[in-house]
Amino acid sequence: MSGRQRIILVTGATGGIGEAVSHHLAAAGDSLVLAARNAERLQALAEALPGAHEGRHSAIPVDMTDNRSISQFAGELQARNIWLDGVVLMPPQAHSTNDPMPSPAAWTDLFQNCFIGPLELLKAAIGRMSPDPAQTRRAKIVIISGISSAQVLGHYATANVLRCAWVGEAKTLAFALGGRGIHVNTLSLGGTLSPWYREGLERRAAAAGVSFAERMAEETANIPLGKYGEPAEVAVAVEGLLSPFSDHMTGLNIMHDGGFTRSY
Ligand SMILES: NC(=O)c1ccc[n+]([C@@H]2O[C@H](COP(=O)([O-])OP(=O)(O)OC[C@H]3O[C@@H](n4cnc5c(N)ncnc54)[C@H](OP(=O)(O)O)[C@@H]3O)[C@@H](O)[C@H]2O)c1
Repeated sequence: MSGRQRIILVTGATGGIGEAVSHHLAAAGDSLVLAARNAERLQALAEALPGAHEGRHSAIPVDMTDNRSISQFAGELQARNIWLDGVVLMPPQAHSTNDPMPSPAAWTDLFQNCFIGPLELLKAAIGRMSPDPAQTRRAKIVIISGISSAQVLGHYATANVLRCAWVGEAKTLAFALGGRGIHVNTLSLGGTLSPWYREGLERRAAAAGVSFAERMAEETANIPLGKYGEPAEVAVAVEGLLSPFSDHMTGLNIMHDGGFTRSY
């Protein structure tokens, strides 16, 4: 991926983490294909990023849970003749639940929305990759996952399953695509201070009658680094996994959790 400007697809681009990743990569000179459902927010982001005045970024709306929307997205990549050097895939998050035995209908929806749909989108993106390892042109896929890929969380019963499915799929793809110079790694996040996560913390602080800082200290006491992650920190890790830093790394599930899972 060296010697020319890269084109990176970022899904969930308008979210707390997606925006931080998009700003970081755009500031480093990448051209971005931004994806999420809300077209106006996507377009506003494309116009706000570094490099926007050069027309470096495109916004392509997609609903990752919907197969028809995904095939339209794939058609757009083709119609615009976009060839990708990297993908940052952020599958929609399963809602927290402590029900270990959801109904078949609930599982069907969860698998479609959080795994099958996003995987269809990833397959379309892989079809628009043309790496050439002999010319040191590698393609990098980073799948954003969560720490329940490594450690059971009681309040994320269904995520425990779905995150492991992603790790299995990432390893399988890494094995199958390595020879073509396509790398696949997952980055498993612990609590990360996206706006919605920060708001939840604020609500819990208010409910407990303590300050934000006091609640944060309480909640992160069992995290060796003593803090939640920042979206900007995720962006730096993603950039590393897209860079030559990972030229001999694939199939890894990397924890970005301040040491919480102790999986070291
Ligand atoms: N924040 C954390 O603590 C944490 C922890 C572990 C893992 N993660 C993972 O990190 C990723 C990003 O999290 P975040 O905190 O940035 O979430 P967020 O702020 O809620 O952002 C979610 C993003 O995904 C898009 N999106 C949601 N549903 C979609 C769908 N069906 N199709 C296409 N795009 C969709 C949203 O835009 P639209 O609504 O416009 O579609 C938005 O851009 C997720 O994969 C999440 O599971 C986060």
